[in-house]
Amino acid sequence: MSTIHVSASLLAANYARMGQEVQRAERAGADSFHFDLMDGHYVPNLALSPDHLIALRAHTRLPFHVHLELENPDEVLDKFQPLQADLIIVCRDTLAAPSRTLARIHALGMRAGLSVNPDEPLSAALDYLSEIDLLLILGVFPGFGGQVMQPGVKRKITQAHQEIRSLGLDLPIGVDGGVNNQTAAELVAAGADFLIAGTALFQANNMRRIITEFKELARLSRSQHQAET
Ligand code: DX5
Ligand code: ZN
Repeated sequence: MSTIHVSASLLAANYARMGQEVQRAERAGADSFHFDLMDGHYVPNLALSPDHLIALRAHTRLPFHVHLELENPDEVLDKFQPLQADLIIVCRDTLAAPSRTLARIHALGMRAGLSVNPDEPLSAALDYLSEIDLLLILGVFPGFGGQVMQPGVKRKITQAHQEIRSLGLDLPIGVDGGVNNQTAAELVAAGADFLIAGTALFQANNMRRIITEFKELARLSRSQHQAET
């Protein structure tokens, strides 16, 4: 993948004016929205619902990527439609039968992503790489925005990049949680194609400047990486 994709995580947006927040991020150059759903069981927090997605759809043309941070994702998949959500990301450790869930997302007309938590080995996702459209490496334990990235994330991305290459797949790697202008460059150098950021974007006075910085950091770290290999 040549250019970096920046996805704005709405968990960090101002909930009192979500419509304007999506427009602000679109104007600032975001490529998509990341939309976390939390159930208070799988993670100790509650967030967003499919109704928010329906309400926000009218405010932007950008794709929405739904991240299901909840138990039993199979029970809620049919609450989403391709017109609202482009991609559904499920957490690997919530799936009893991953292939079945991923096939169901595809059958509903959406793309499928798989996320791996910081304390989960990459091996948990390896069997499914050919069945997904995005591999998401979580930089933090799911549940809250604004956390500091856990150690070992960069190494996991490097490993994922090597595995994907060795299989001859063209599968993008995303990283979610703790992404900011301190961490972005090394994540991209390790092989991340998708940067998902909430706090770093929505807390910024000038979101365009941050997104431009991400893309510039990514461009520099890639050209440096290419020069070295
Ligand atoms: C965490 C979520 C993330 C979160 C990232 O459970 O999956 O999408 O919004 O937040 P930041 O960018 O603030 O770390
Ligand atoms: Zn997320």
